[in-house]
Order: sequence, then structure tokens, then C-alpha cells
Amino acid sequence: MVGQPLQARLDALRAEIAAHDYRYHVLDAPVISDGEFDALMRELREIEEAHPELTTPDSPTQRVGGAPSPEFAEVHHPVPMLSLANAFGRDDLEAWRRRLTALLETDEFGLVVEPKIDGLAIALTYEDGRLVRGATRGDGVRGEDVTANVRTIRSVPLTLRAEASPPPRLEARGEVYFPLDAFRRMNEQRAEAGEPAFANPRNAAAGALRQLDPRITASRRLALWVYQLGWIDGAEPPATHWKTMQWLRELGFRVNPEMRRAADLNEVSAYYDDWLSARFEKAYQTDGLVIKVDRLDYQRHVGFVGREPRWAVAYKFPAERSRTRLLSIEVNVGRTGSLNPYAVLEPVQVSGVTVRQATLHNADNIASKDIRIGDHVWVERAGEVIPQVIGPIVEERNGSERVYAMPERCPTCDAAVVREEGDAMHRCVNGACPAQRLENLKHFASKGGLDVDGLGEKLVALLVEKGLVENYPDLYALQRDELAALERMGEKSADNLLAAIEATKTRPLAQIIAALGVAHVGRETAEALARRFGSMERLMGAAAEELEAVSGVGPIMASAIRSHFDVEANRKIVTALGAAGVLLESEQAVEAEGPRPLDGMRLVVTGRLDRFTRSEIQDYIKRLGGQVSGSVSKRTDFVVAGEDAGSKLADAQALEVEVLDEEAFVSRYGAPA
Ligand code: IVH
Repeated sequence: MVGQPLQARLDALRAEIAAHDYRYHVLDAPVISDGEFDALMRELREIEEAHPELTTPDSPTQRVGGAPSPEFAEVHHPVPMLSLANAFGRDDLEAWRRRLTALLETDEFGLVVEPKIDGLAIALTYEDGRLVRGATRGDGVRGEDVTANVRTIRSVPLTLRAEASPPPRLEARGEVYFPLDAFRRMNEQRAEAGEPAFANPRNAAAGALRQLDPRITASRRLALWVYQLGWIDGAEPPATHWKTMQWLRELGFRVNPEMRRAADLNEVSAYYDDWLSARFEKAYQTDGLVIKVDRLDYQRHVGFVGREPRWAVAYKFPAERSRTRLLSIEVNVGRTGSLNPYAVLEPVQVSGVTVRQATLHNADNIASKDIRIGDHVWVERAGEVIPQVIGPIVEERNGSERVYAMPERCPTCDAAVVREEGDAMHRCVNGACPAQRLENLKHFASKGGLDVDGLGEKLVALLVEKGLVENYPDLYALQRDELAALERMGEKSADNLLAAIEATKTRPLAQIIAALGVAHVGRETAEALARRFGSMERLMGAAAEELEAVSGVGPIMASAIRSHFDVEANRKIVTALGAAGVLLESEQAVEAEGPRPLDGMRLVVTGRLDRFTRSEIQDYIKRLGGQVSGSVSKRTDFVVAGEDAGSKLADAQALEVEVLDEEAFVSRYGAPA
């Protein structure tokens, strides 16, 4: 039996965390720092780990739980999920309102106007205040059960607020979407890891929600806006949509504060104009506004036509797509030497902005869409995401279009261009390439690097152009008078910049490592490397095997780090940074390096495991000092075999290598917390 005080502490912690989640996600008014919040979560997790019997499925620690499922179950929507009719201008809106006036026999009905979020519809069912199901829209009648994935979305409440007296059963509907900052961050991380970027947030959100492994969904940082009460059992709904939204917010749902009441279409139009000019500054993508009749009895009275309610309409923003001609394809050279192809376009207006260039991502993208020089193409601008070429308009070809080939030599330094197996990008092999150096300097000064206040991309380019800076250490030798003499600078800005540069000398080691611009090494890996090695000197001296033993570091990354520091010029840069006064050691304790249970052992993992994904068990083995190899040989110490293990298991038996099932592995070596 567990004493009452512990249960009371658990209840208090869970309630406190839920209250902070509500303040953070719904009210957008947090009252504690992230660190304080993490401390509460940590305490809860520790108690639950010590007393697993006290863990409940709706505890805030349980957002990601359970194993990946082989497929999604089908869900029947008790009330169909409808779509919306579109209005493309004021005329369409007026026609919509006239039809309603005729049906309702009054023109005195209020409207609610809300952003139309560009994501995907979700239905969330709660029983006795607990989330029991999350389902996609599907065809409107039948959707997919994505409960495990939906639970990982932090703005989806797992329990409703008791203060607002949740009814026995209700279904809330809303839109799951990818916040643009999280979307961009994910693409940056993918670029750092050499993975292709996602083209648009909507598709990336849809992909994330339909992952069979909820841990992948969790890593994608999706969010939710609730915009409708699907149905309710055992209580009366409020009388209007507006009041329903207020009530849903009190229950704990994240309801968009940009919803407005409008008395007539003039107010709707005014709001539409505001949104049209500001929509690319929002934190999420929208493709229009939704206008709804406020009174729910009126909504019921006018009903539906086909799959569309008469009481609502989507007032769409003008297309973000335009057509134009692709004049030529050029490449710029990125920080890691990647050759990034882009289209030079005949200038075209896309949602109010002139677009002259658009990204083409990489050679495979150009080939798979069969984009040719001289093609007429569709160009799209999605939120603040850079414009991109959607594809060619094949019917418009006249035979003069030319297939594109990536250059064989770097357009900046003329060094050879290579494309390694498994890499989506062609790369310039010259580490001293001036284009790479400039991009690296920009990165060094940026937020992802040392975060030098006031040293933006333009100023970096100017410093290089004037010959004041060639590489990172040169920043620390800049003189006040030479800076003050630059265009638009002056003495005060020069002093500020020098102070900002001075301040970077004591940045944490992880930040220095991330700033160096080693291929594949992003902030997260840099943190792990700093924890493990504790100083630049030890990191630079680490062998590939030692690097691979760091969690999150695979063979490709390990060899990239090793090759980086094998280049003398790169080592000299680090030495010069040290000489300039930059602290190259960590102040924190280095991870213990005592003997580990799998030190020096070679393992092979095969088949499907219950408790680990493939990369989790690989990480775990490495943390315990072991190495994971891809095939079984005489030198293999043992094989971990899960369900449906195939030829590797047979190899192990033939070579008489020890085989452990998952349970035996865990009982011998444990599992990560
Ligand atoms: S109300 C009866 N409100 O747009 C229809 N939908 O094109 C209920 N959407 O499937 C929809 N934002 O996924 C409504 N504020 C909003 C919305 C919204 C986005 C989506 C929703 C719907 C689609 C219809």
C-alpha cells in the first residue's frame, strides 16, 4: 500500500501541471518558466517510475506511450464531418446571405468570423472528461483512429477541466496544424542531418498525424485549434456558436482568440481585408476565413445541402499559386557545400508579392517533376515558406525546353562536385570554397551559432567583401575605427558590435561546437558532444568509434566530425578561437566514463521490438558502450532478435552466436527510462 501523502502529491502535481498546460496552450499566459514546468514534470515522472502502479493513462507523463501500431482502426463518425462551400468574393458572400435570409425569414442574424486553418480536421471524443479517441475526417463518415498520435499534441487536453463541469460525453472538432516556427525548425534540423525538407506545413502535419509510431508524431510539435462542438450527450449545448466556443475554452480546449462576431457583411469584409494583409505574419497558415451563423437553432433550421452546411461558408483568400516561365536554373552553394538549385522566373505576382526566384530543392526533385528550362510552371508561396516550383504545365511545351543537369564543378570555386550515396544533395568538395565560407560565417553569427547580436547576414557579407573577415577568429580582431568607417555603421554601432562579439567568448561549449558548422552537427548533437567530451581539445582528438558511442551520433555523422577535424585548417581555426579568448571548455561535469556493461561488444539487432524503435535500441546499446553492426559474423558477441526476425537470426544460429530475445536483453541490460 502506498501512503496517502504520496497519492495526494501525485494528484496535486497532475492538477498543477494541467493548470499550467491550460495557461500556456489555451490562455497563452504562462505564469511559470519552462524550467519550473520541467521540474514539476520531472518530479511526477520520478514518483511514477518508483510506483508504476500509480501511473494513470491520462497522466501528463503519458502523452507518448504504447508501441507503434501496424495500422489504424476505422472509426465511424456518429455525426458526419462535413466540408464547406467556398466564396471567392463579396458577391458570393452576399448570395450566401440572401439565401439564409430567405430560409430564416429574417435578416437579423449574427455571424461569427474565424480564420480557416490550413491543416487537417480532427474529432476528439471525451468521456467523463477524459480523452478516449481522436479520429481523422476520412471521407466524412468513416475516419481513422489516431488516438495515440493525437495524445502527443500538447495543446490537446487529455482531461477536461473539472471546474467547467464536463458533460458525460462530448466530441470537439478542430484543425491539427504545423505551427510555422516548428515547421521551419524541423526543416532546418532535417537539412542539418542531410534529409530533404518538407515542402509545406499542411502535408507535413498530415504525414505526422498518420505515423504508425506515435514517437515520430510527438517529435513534430503539432498544435490544435478547436472550432466546433461535434456532438454532446447528457447536457444541453449553449445557444450560440460563440458561447459554445467560450465554453469549450473553459473546458480546456485551445480556441482561436482571433474569432470575431460580426453583425453584417461589411464587418466581415473589414476583417477579411485585415487578414489578407497580415496573414503571412501569423504563426500558422490560413487559406481563408470561415463565416458561420451564430445561433445554433438557426444552424439546425437551415441544415445542409449534400456535404456542405448552409450555415457556414469558407471565404477564401486569393490563390497562392501563379503560373509563369522558368527562364533558367542556377545553384547557390550552401554552408555544407550543398549545391542548392533554384529557378529564375519571369517575375510573377503570387498573393500580392513579386516572385523572381523559387527553390527547386535538389536534383531528384527536378527530375521527378520533370521540370525543364523554358517550361511554363506553377509557382506557390505558402505562408512565409520560400516560394517553390510546383511543377511544369506539360501541355504548354513547344519542344524548345531543355532538361537540366547539375554542374560538375562548383560555380564559386570550380572545385569538383560529388554526390555521395544516400545523400540527396550534390556538394562542392572544397572546404575552403569562398561561398561555403561566407555561409559558414553567417551561420557562426546566427541564432543557431554564437548568436552575435547585430551581426546579421548582410553585415557578415559586407565584412567579407571589405576583406575585414575571412574566418571566424577574424571577428575577434575587428577594430573599432574600421567598423565605424563602414556604410551605415558609425561609432555607436561599432561599439555595440564589438561588445556583442566579446560576449560570445563565454558561450557554452555546445554552442561553440554547433557554431563551427560541422556537417550534420546541429544543436542537439552539439549538446551531446559537449556533455561527453567537455572540451574542444578532447572532441578534436576523439576517434570515430568514440564519437559513434555518443547517443544520437551514427556512423555518417561520426565520420563527418572526424573528417572535419582531420583538416588542418579546421583545427587551426579552433586554436585561433582559443587564442582570441573564446572559452573552449565546458563548465559542466563531463558524463561519467567508467566501465560500461557493453564496452567493446559487437551486437546485431534484428526483427521487430516492442519496447524500442530501431534507433532507440541502437542509441541505448551505444550508451552502454556497445557497437551495433548490420550483419552477423563470428566476431558478433550476440544478436537481439525481435518478432519476425529473418536471415540474421538464421546466420546467428549457423555461426553459433548467442541470441537474446527482447525480454532477455532487457532483463540483462535494462531499458532506458
Ligand atoms: S467549420 C461543417 N471552422 O476546413 C464544417 N472548419 O473546407 C465544419 N477548417 O473540414 C467546419 N478552419 O477541416 C471550420 N475555423 C474553421 C476551420 C475549418 C479550418 C477546415 C475543416 C474543414 C475544412 C472545410
